[in-house]
Amino acid sequence: MEIQFLDAGDAIPAGVLARLVNQDALPADLDNLLAQGARLSRFAGKPGQIFEGFAEHEGQVRRVALAGVGLADAKDRTGALEKAGAGLVAKYLTSGETALTLDLDGAGLSVPELTALLLGARLRAWRLDTYRTTLADDKKPSLSRIAVVGAPDGAAAAWSVEEALATGVEFTRELVTEPANAIYPESFVERCHARMAGTGIEIRVLDEGEMAALGMGSLLGVAQGSVRPPRLLVLEWMGGEPGAKPIAFVGKGVTFDTGGISLKPPAGMEDMKWDMGGAGAVAGTMLALALRKAKANVVGVCGLVENMPDGNAQRPGDVVTSMSGQTIEVINTDAEGRLVLCDALTWTQREYAPTRIVDLATLTGAILISLGHEYAGIFSNDDALAADLTAAGKVTGDKLWRFPLGAAYDRMLESAIADMKNVGPRYGGSITAAQFLQRYIENGTPWAHLDIAGTVWTDKPGATWDKGASGFGVRLLDRLVRDTLEAQG
Ligand code: BES
Ligand code: MN
Ligand code: ZN
Repeated sequence: MEIQFLDAGDAIPAGVLARLVNQDALPADLDNLLAQGARLSRFAGKPGQIFEGFAEHEGQVRRVALAGVGLADAKDRTGALEKAGAGLVAKYLTSGETALTLDLDGAGLSVPELTALLLGARLRAWRLDTYRTTLADDKKPSLSRIAVVGAPDGAAAAWSVEEALATGVEFTRELVTEPANAIYPESFVERCHARMAGTGIEIRVLDEGEMAALGMGSLLGVAQGSVRPPRLLVLEWMGGEPGAKPIAFVGKGVTFDTGGISLKPPAGMEDMKWDMGGAGAVAGTMLALALRKAKANVVGVCGLVENMPDGNAQRPGDVVTSMSGQTIEVINTDAEGRLVLCDALTWTQREYAPTRIVDLATLTGAILISLGHEYAGIFSNDDALAADLTAAGKVTGDKLWRFPLGAAYDRMLESAIADMKNVGPRYGGSITAAQFLQRYIENGTPWAHLDIAGTVWTDKPGATWDKGASGFGVRLLDRLVRDTLEAQG
């Protein structure tokens, strides 16, 4: 979706003409037919609500859209504007129209309000059609351009920042949506190389041999059942003070999770292509930060493996030694995410001594039982970090709900043969998983674990996405960087 800012004398492209309407406040200058039509259709101007009528413009009939933006003094005004932008795109994406002109005259939008609307529009337009060869012409996306008339000063510069963010979210959605025969550890790395070339991101990749030399027996134990070799992908964006320690984002990148020898049941197993959603969010965030030249030092680490059952796969009861030296009894090979993350966390801390660590993982089915698809779970050893992330989630819509940690949960991981088991008892499964990860946090480094198993993929369209990959986490982490690291400078 191309966004264009038109000057006063510029020609208005053919296509839809759109205006914004505050709740219960149809503009006084609206022509009678549109105004009455909107009333008859019970159009109230609620966020995202769209009314369509027709008007004659320079002798031609045009579709006219009224897009509701809610109450002018609403608490979540930017969220409402995102919904309005998304609502317009949802309505016209496959309408046959190729352009939409948004006339802001009299709407009184601030720059952040306008960029929120455009971000909503752009995000709602994303879809992956590369595998559809028989899509009927009238089902194909047609809308490719939004022209803005009457934008406030500074809108274009502000949009270039949000545009970077949109590109990051889209990259995450692409990685998450692609099937596991297209995205596996090596090809995940290749996509990042291709997409991040020229952005200033420094890419480092550790292969099997290097990880073995470092003693990453836990991550490698998961990978050993697959013919696809694992990778540790490291993305550095050092846009802040030279030499200042970075914040670290660490993602679970299980490119397919069959469960391994503790095989999952067939129904719904195809969903496990998105078990790399944490790594996907990390990659998309790094891309966004680099494209908008964030003034912060950030390192993203993706633990990439495929969890498969075969003759060489690890068995329940196997004991593996992690890079930290701690030993793990693998009770259930389907609790593989934590086995990947623990080595990624150790390596990240030893290599970068980060100021803060946030890990993201589609870690447990139990988080879906607790929170459904609305909130991701947050687990943290640091109240300030938890508060910063929760606040960032409120602003961006990537909502987080905090869970407890504690010694009683930690004890549930005791093993009869090794330092710990990789699973606890059935109840409290998301918490014991987090407790497992905490055993790998060194020197009290502020750390937060986000269990995003319920939020990376949805079966119905959301505010700014169609059904499928939401891109959860990118806007959250970008906002955390803006409001903590960049706010200080
Ligand atoms: N990737 C899954 C978690 C998951 C399940 C995500 C369903 C999304 C939907 C994870 O690797 C897993 O299998 N977890 C097990 C842990 C159990 C064996 C302790 C689970 O949640 O069932
Ligand atoms: Mn699993
Ligand atoms: Zn998994």
